[in-house]
Amino acid sequence: MASSTTVKIAEFRRLLSHAHSVLVLTGAGISAESGIPTFRGAGGLWRQFKATDLATQTAFARSPSLVWEFYHYRRELVRTKQPNKAHIALAKAEKRFEKEGKRFNVITQNVDGLHRRAGTKNLIEMHGNLFMVQCTLCQFIEENDSSPICESLRNRGSPDVNPPEIDEKDLPRCTKCKSLVRPHIVWFGEHIWDDVLEKIQKEIQLCDLFIVIGTSSVVYPAAGYASILAERNIPIAEVNIETTPSTSIATYHFHGPAAQIIPQLLSVNLNNE
Ligand code: OAD
Ligand code: ZN
Repeated sequence: MASSTTVKIAEFRRLLSHAHSVLVLTGAGISAESGIPTFRGAGGLWRQFKATDLATQTAFARSPSLVWEFYHYRRELVRTKQPNKAHIALAKAEKRFEKEGKRFNVITQNVDGLHRRAGTKNLIEMHGNLFMVQCTLCQFIEENDSSPICESLRNRGSPDVNPPEIDEKDLPRCTKCKSLVRPHIVWFGEHIWDDVLEKIQKEIQLCDLFIVIGTSSVVYPAAGYASILAERNIPIAEVNIETTPSTSIATYHFHGPAAQIIPQLLSVNLNNE
């Protein structure tokens, strides 16, 4: 006899085969199986700090050295990790949809760049990217994936020790005006960039099937997309190892790790890779 999960997966696949504009929202949980700690789960602390205490303008103003050490640590960590089966399945599904002339877009709250590395093209990184920086003076935005990002950060960023502060002049600088740069990331208390919000708005309007993967659904505006779409009766599938505020409005809740469930949901065969 088919289990209820098998039935749900079959139902979801039927919806997917009829969808014309699939929208996927991902959070830290999709990268958990790549070995990147989530924000609110175990492993969410760096030194004595919660990530959410360091990802703020106040923390950066108080100690650019501390905040840069934290981001340097995360940049170097992500470099050693690989996209997992969930990221890869999404990239493959996008290709399949494109071939069929249908839309398939991913909005991610993650700054780890793993969707890009997996090959996803239609991607909105709504909170920015660890490998982009922005000048605190002239506002110039540029990619910077140097390792380390500057000499003074070499061998720094360890989560276990609290070394002396690095002088501001030795922290990462703008290639145009030589002023201090910051990670090009939306911090707590900051607004998502207008151009990004516009792109998201457009995708929400076009969406006829929504998939929410690995997010605790507590940080807005992303946490609100499911209810906006539920009001329009758009089918919603949630994939998570826990229940969240989105679970009660989702049409389907698939309970389990994304790397296992996403390839099945999207009918992507990754066995030969
Ligand atoms: P959270 O750490 O809040 O939530 C991660 C979610 O992933 C939780 O609901 C977990 O149950 C789930 N999860 C963990 N492992 C999983 C797995 N293998 N498969 C599926 N689900 C899994 O992370 P986000 O929701 O992404 O913002 O957090 C949202 C934002 O708050 C982040 O983008 C960040 C953060 O502070 C900024 O940095 C601006
Ligand atoms: Zn500058």
